Amino acid sequence: MEKTSSSFAARPPRPILHEKHADGHRLWILDQTLLPHASRWRELVCLAAAIRAIREMQVRGAPLIGVTAAYGVALAMTADASDANLTQALAELAATRPTAVNLHWALRRMRARLAAIPPETRGAVAWREAEAIAEEDAAQNRAIGQHGLALLETLPHPATRPLTFMTHCNAGWLATVEQGTALAPIYAAHAKEIDLHVWVSETRPRNQGLLTAWELRQAGIPHTLVADNAAGFLMATGKVDVVMTGADRVAANGDVANKIGTFLKALAARQYAIPFYVAAPSTTLDSDTPSGAEIPIEMRDDEELRWVCGSDEKTGFARLRQLPATEAALNPAFDITPADLVTALITEHGVSRGREN
Ligand code: MRU
Repeated sequence: MEKTSSSFAARPPRPILHEKHADGHRLWILDQTLLPHASRWRELVCLAAAIRAIREMQVRGAPLIGVTAAYGVALAMTADASDANLTQALAELAATRPTAVNLHWALRRMRARLAAIPPETRGAVAWREAEAIAEEDAAQNRAIGQHGLALLETLPHPATRPLTFMTHCNAGWLATVEQGTALAPIYAAHAKEIDLHVWVSETRPRNQGLLTAWELRQAGIPHTLVADNAAGFLMATGKVDVVMTGADRVAANGDVANKIGTFLKALAARQYAIPFYVAAPSTTLDSDTPSGAEIPIEMRDDEELRWVCGSDEKTGFARLRQLPATEAALNPAFDITPADLVTALITEHGVSRGREN
């Protein structure tokens, strides 16, 4: 089902919308599998639709995955609020994507809120709790933006060119409820009229960099898309002042799981003494996992490497085979950046410093 984005023009952009009506609740997501070619809202009407949206990456990004899962529980409780269905819904949602810990955090919170109350009250309570999780995420990102901005203001700003960022994947408002994590300080710096430029790495194979470019274009923030492999060259030639990424899970020792390719950027940043900042809400911190070695890394379908997607003048959207089915391919979706490559972690509580460059 479609919904025009003009309905949302009056508020800061969000990729998920919960509407309360006299006859019940409605949940909408912006389908990210079609961006940046088409902007289409889909209504999630049941648990199965929420599961599909997460698994197929119609919604993606650690915080948004957690929020969508919480709403998925609310959809499940609206249909059948029994103990058995609660247990089943939580288990099915937990199995959608393994790396982003926000998913498990949100499901634990929904379980804690719902398991102890009578089934007849669970539907209404589940919607309220999911809404609270969403609003908390938006507030956390606003705080990350302000802490990140304060950190950026301590950096030496180049005299003859803009302060230049390198980012990876998409950690903007599309990946959260509002603002984003890694992009929140960039949005805050732009709002303060700091002259800046962002190198956006393409992020093969799912090309989340195209989502970042789409966001930045809408916000009027100067940026340039580069192939992932250009990152080392740009850093080596003095064209990057700071690397800023999000995270899918931060282990107890500070190791960071994030989109595949993050680790190589951190290595190059270390080589050239460029600050490497990670921005993430506390819901991404996982004190139960001792180090990056224990973080489960999602291995996605190797079909994602065999096809490229884009827009086509006739149909508006097209898939093109780039690799024969007989060719072997491997598709790890995340990698681990060791804690000692992270200059600072920015959360809603402030900045914790790691190594100094
Ligand atoms: O596979 P994705 O697109 O869900 O991966 C997203 C990322 O790796 C993001 O960098 C991370 O979730 C931080 S989002 C605020």
